[in-house]
Amino acid sequence: MTFAAVDVIRAKRDGGRLSDEQIDWVVDAYTRGVVAEEQMAALAMAIFLRGMDDGEIARWTGAMIGSGSRLSLDVARPTVDKHSTGGVGDKITLPLAPLVAACGAAVPQLSGRGLGHTGGTLDKLESIPGWRAALSLDEIAAQLNSVGAVVCAATEGLAPADKKLYALRDVTSTVESVPLIASSIMSKKIAEGASGLVLDVKAGSGAFMKTVPEAQLLARTLVDIGTAHGVACTALITDMSTPLGRAVGNAVEVAEAVEVLRGGGPADVVSLTVALAREMLALAGISVDPAEVLASGEAYEVWARMITAQGGDPSASLPRPSSVHVVPAPASGVLTSLDAYAVGVAAWRLGAGRARKEDPVQAAAGILCHAKPGDAVVAGEPLLELHTDTPEAIPAALAALEGGFEVGAEAPAATGIVLDTVRP
Ligand code: URA
Repeated sequence: MTFAAVDVIRAKRDGGRLSDEQIDWVVDAYTRGVVAEEQMAALAMAIFLRGMDDGEIARWTGAMIGSGSRLSLDVARPTVDKHSTGGVGDKITLPLAPLVAACGAAVPQLSGRGLGHTGGTLDKLESIPGWRAALSLDEIAAQLNSVGAVVCAATEGLAPADKKLYALRDVTSTVESVPLIASSIMSKKIAEGASGLVLDVKAGSGAFMKTVPEAQLLARTLVDIGTAHGVACTALITDMSTPLGRAVGNAVEVAEAVEVLRGGGPADVVSLTVALAREMLALAGISVDPAEVLASGEAYEVWARMITAQGGDPSASLPRPSSVHVVPAPASGVLTSLDAYAVGVAAWRLGAGRARKEDPVQAAAGILCHAKPGDAVVAGEPLLELHTDTPEAIPAALAALEGGFEVGAEAPAATGIVLDTVRP
């Protein structure tokens, strides 16, 4: 069926509901270049302002999946995947994928690069000498069967409508819309073909969703899309008011992930890794305790094989920065807050992230947090360590950190890392 784009735009602009046929047509016609960029920009703004109901969102997601191919991996074990909506210091995929594989599932983790203040998993792994992000479909399937875990770049041809639409939303101020974010994430994840999916929906200053109610709405929408498309999903709402762990950047985050895989690492990273692993294993129907497997060292063994299979040397030294600038604690007391967004922007300015898709990142750039909220600090002792190969970036990073941390007399009330769970 064919429609006129202006009629579809007008229907949504005036608060109407788009029919299944209108949605299928407009997504397909946009992908083929029949609906012009300015028409889709107007429709995205109408959706941003008027929203979509659950049926429209599920259909829109289906149309975006249908714009490309759907992976079908020939893997003997149950496949289960994780998606994070993105945060500061979020290196969880690195210990999680080998941990869940060590417990018996297959984890095809097709990941992206960072944009803005949140880091990208591929950028972090590329700080390991020799590691290769681009794998063919045959290589992905072979590695899933031999190692159980793959973290690699998304293959071409998955949800091309989303690729086009996401770039358009980026330049038309239509990113922060729950129907558009949820359909964008789920179209790619469902096209990747995992039978189970756990969503880590971040809430806080360093996340897309600044408040828990906003994150709950996004989580419910994501889980409902999964259900509508026959993919078993669970979402955890997790804290992103302060960076996850102590390391923010690329090589520093890999080093922290390895600490976790060797049985150490910061408590919040360990706790979230185990919580997500539990949910993934439940979806895969595997009753193994991931905390025990992590402690046994088996997950580290899978990590080493996963890195080696992709050309990396798991025992190679990670890049070190040419400049280190220490920010001392301004007073003695307790660190009462350390703002995720401030630290994320500072790390990005030091060179850990990129402003445009084509920009390079510095493997050694980032920030080490010597204290986390609730920790005692001593005036003049190191609080933050800024790493960079471009020392001229340090003043801009320090400016981003202004007002980003506070020292007081009393520890803030401790909240766990997992704030809520959303199930079908
Ligand atoms: N991540 C996505 O993949 N899509 C969005 O719209 C937002 C975040």
